Amino acid sequence: MLNVGGPCTSLARARACKGNDEEVSSSEEPGAGKLHAGICAGGARQRASLPRVPRKMKPVTLAVIGAGSRGRTYAAYARARPELAKVVAVAEPREAWRAFLVREHGIPASETTSHWRDLLDRPKCADAVVIATQDAMHVAPAVAAARKGYAILLEKPMAPDATGCRTIVSALDRNAVFAVCHVLRYTRHTRKIKELLETGMIGDVVNVQSLEPVGYWHQAHSFVRGNWRREDKASPMLLAKCCHDLDWIRYVVGSPCVSIQSFGSLKHFRAEQKPPGATDRCLDCLLDASCPYSARKIYLSRVAQGHLGWPVDVLTPEPNAATVLEALRRGPYGRCVYACDNDVVDNQVVNMLFENGTTASLTMTAFTEADHRQTRIFGTRGQLVSDGRSIRHFDFQTDCWEAIPAESSDSSILGGHGGGDYAIMEAFVDAVRHGDQGRVLSGPEVSLETHLMVFAAEISRRANRVVRMDEMLTQPEP
Ligand SMILES: NC(=O)c1ccc[n+]([C@@H]2O[C@H](COP(=O)([O-])OP(=O)(O)OC[C@H]3O[C@@H](n4cnc5c(N)ncnc54)[C@H](O)[C@@H]3O)[C@@H](O)[C@H]2O)c1
Repeated sequence: MLNVGGPCTSLARARACKGNDEEVSSSEEPGAGKLHAGICAGGARQRASLPRVPRKMKPVTLAVIGAGSRGRTYAAYARARPELAKVVAVAEPREAWRAFLVREHGIPASETTSHWRDLLDRPKCADAVVIATQDAMHVAPAVAAARKGYAILLEKPMAPDATGCRTIVSALDRNAVFAVCHVLRYTRHTRKIKELLETGMIGDVVNVQSLEPVGYWHQAHSFVRGNWRREDKASPMLLAKCCHDLDWIRYVVGSPCVSIQSFGSLKHFRAEQKPPGATDRCLDCLLDASCPYSARKIYLSRVAQGHLGWPVDVLTPEPNAATVLEALRRGPYGRCVYACDNDVVDNQVVNMLFENGTTASLTMTAFTEADHRQTRIFGTRGQLVSDGRSIRHFDFQTDCWEAIPAESSDSSILGGHGGGDYAIMEAFVDAVRHGDQGRVLSGPEVSLETHLMVFAAEISRRANRVVRMDEMLTQPEP
């Protein structure tokens, strides 16, 4: 392609008038956004450019319900910004995980419980609750917390079905802040894309094309061996992994979805794909060395390299070579990927039509390198191409490609999801402090709407037909 439009004029941006579609290289390790650094035992590190907080201001108090992987991530915000937030209570049945939070945050023994119900049965003990239990355990604590008048930060998905989502929304106290952890809305990268679109730099958005490259080992970890492997125990793959993507696309398009259509299947991680001679557990398997999905390869190689954070810390709260080996010997993460009880899809496509005429498509696939989400946004005056780290702009007037400078990355626990984990906590705590729902990027109605897009896509996939979103007003469940 020729660069016929002369040089790009923006001085603020690095110039890359390559006239082709090459990817802009990044210094970050591929998939680094998904390989979070280890849990920081001494608390997340302070940031240099944090806004000053008046001395006398009391921190917003938080009760954490579910102190697993996500619960401790959000709690780490309070370690990073003790002047803004404090974890004062925890409900968590697993002793070791509860003890971790108690230790990290100095939570008094009187404020710890094993079950969320015991915490929420008591008089209100904090300004807000962070609900980070598993997918199928969000509705009851959310409804109970709403009744007690807590502000609520609720992990996605709100619920595994539309009825559950609606139940939460109708129980909410409209005076209390509510946010769903659609962390991708809050990343520095998304902020940049929204800012660029709002300048009109690519004209009207006509189409959005998104790829969620889940990654072969991430699929094996979470969706074949792990917590999200079964629809009846967690939720459909699209809800578990891609409710973020549909929510993100809706946010970027800025218009409600009117029609949706989807195909998808569990193509590979099935018993009939098991190679002859493979055993049911990786540590015993003679084919282990030649299997890309080997648990030994996925976990022990990380431990050997000193990666003790996610996904290794999902296997055991205090990961080291011995505890991980033991978890692989006995636990679910040591199973052969062809001998699990999984049923969620490993590939899916979704097509969407929005009220403003914009169309969009999403591809979710296990069969990639685990990487950042990739997006192309096609407008009437140009296009934006994002690999989740960097953004490039092609301008139809100048026929020029420009590289938009990458936002700096952060490898601390709260740097997860491109900084979205930190930024959602920052927005939520700020909203609670000011009693202002407007300070979070999506309220209950929009979160319900984007969850309904997922349920509509699932109806489409199963029934092999296009689903209109207005059907979802009457259509209860996939
Ligand atoms: N926003 C995101 O990007 C994102 C990323 C990963 C996971 N998630 C979601 O976060 C949620 C939690 O995921 P996770 O990876 O932290 O799972 P997890 O299993 O590590 O944590 C869930 C915790 O809830 C605890 N729990 C179980 N019963 C309880 C009870 N009765 N009372 C209190 N706690 C109880 C469990 O013991 C566990 O520690 C899930 O819904 C998941 O889909 C969101």
